[in-house]
Amino acid sequence: MATTFIPPTDSAAAFRSPLADSFSLSQEVVFLNHGSFGSVPKPVSAVQQAFLAEIEAQPVEMLARKMPARLLAVRERLAAFLGTHPERMGLVTNATAGVGSVLRSIDWRKGDQIILSNHGYNAVRQAVQAQCERFGCEAVVVDIPLPLRGPDEVRRRFRGAINARTRLVIVDHITSPTALRFPVAEIAADCRAARVLCLVDGAHAPGMLDLDVDSIDCDWYTGNLHKWVCAPRGCAFLVANPRVLPWTHPETTSHPYGNGLALEADWQGTRDFSAWLSIPAALDFIASGGPSASSLARRNIALARWAHEMLCGAWHVEPLSPLDGAMLGSMATVPLPAGTRSRFASASEYQAHVYATHRIEAPIIDWGGRWHLRVSAQAYNTPQDYLLLAGAVWADAGGSGTGGTAGVGTEAAAAARACLKGT
Ligand SMILES: Cc1ncc(COP(=O)(O)O)c(C=O)c1O
Repeated sequence: MATTFIPPTDSAAAFRSPLADSFSLSQEVVFLNHGSFGSVPKPVSAVQQAFLAEIEAQPVEMLARKMPARLLAVRERLAAFLGTHPERMGLVTNATAGVGSVLRSIDWRKGDQIILSNHGYNAVRQAVQAQCERFGCEAVVVDIPLPLRGPDEVRRRFRGAINARTRLVIVDHITSPTALRFPVAEIAADCRAARVLCLVDGAHAPGMLDLDVDSIDCDWYTGNLHKWVCAPRGCAFLVANPRVLPWTHPETTSHPYGNGLALEADWQGTRDFSAWLSIPAALDFIASGGPSASSLARRNIALARWAHEMLCGAWHVEPLSPLDGAMLGSMATVPLPAGTRSRFASASEYQAHVYATHRIEAPIIDWGGRWHLRVSAQAYNTPQDYLLLAGAVWADAGGSGTGGTAGVGTEAAAAARACLKGT
């Protein structure tokens, strides 16, 4: 379907990150969904391939003799990046496994409550549900209504749900469907005061936010590296506070049982270690995007904040969180204009249409009875991508002429440039 939207005259090249060409994404698609599975840059894939070749050349030498020291070096580098200690951090394959390790480690008592929010990730909810069914515990889902005026409301809702039966609170650092940044340090403080365990699900946070895990002072923090650190898939971690470290174990028990989380996680049976060994290369890659190690993250956050404001204006919709970006990282979820809902049967049908017709990849979420679209901002994205999206969706919603996107052309591109200046 042709759209009537007129793209800005500003050249997309003006916004390109020096890292954009390192990604092997198809040029046929406007990729606005780094958040789901990431995309591994070519230099990081090359390093992983080299490790695979090294392992295949001498499997016993690499796996039995060299791997412990290699993995220690990876953990040391990663711990410095995350703001924690390598002996308190276990490498895992994904955030789901990090959450599973915590759920497995707690000695549940019948009647214990586990608090999570309605913005939580479905796989985590399912893991909690399975645990509850097994041990006679109860999942309590805190409702956090939208729109939010600030993070205090989130904290209040979590705090209000804690009671004498609460054993564990699971809070997302960045929520998946709604792309909101929750006040995890404050919620962890409330948990400590109430003597309740706290797990932060930071699946999206590493590489997106400036992390200092130890200063959050939660009991556990788990995060993915295959999203915003751009590591190969299968790279994630679980950090345990000294309070809970002695009894925290990975999901699988193997030879190193009894040697502490870090070593137990290092060896959970024979596996392909090439992804974990490539973590330092991914950290080097994301640090090479500008004058400082966090230049890329700051650029991406600025781009997402601008896209959030521009899309809300273009579609005449109320934002889910403040337009100053106080609750955003490098993703933003925006309500869709009402017209889309009357023309497509379901959110997934509309997502398929946006991909097939406009060649734009972005998740569309049915949330609270309304459809929303989540955008991500990564090195390869420019304001042009979001302007194309704005026009395509507006046309699908039945908007006429340039409609809601009138005036967001060159003006918006200039605003984006101002936003990105100095990042
Ligand atoms: C908040 C949150 N938790 C957990 C996960 C699970 O991540 P994975 O599938 O890598 O285990 C995700 C995935 O996107 C997520 O967004």
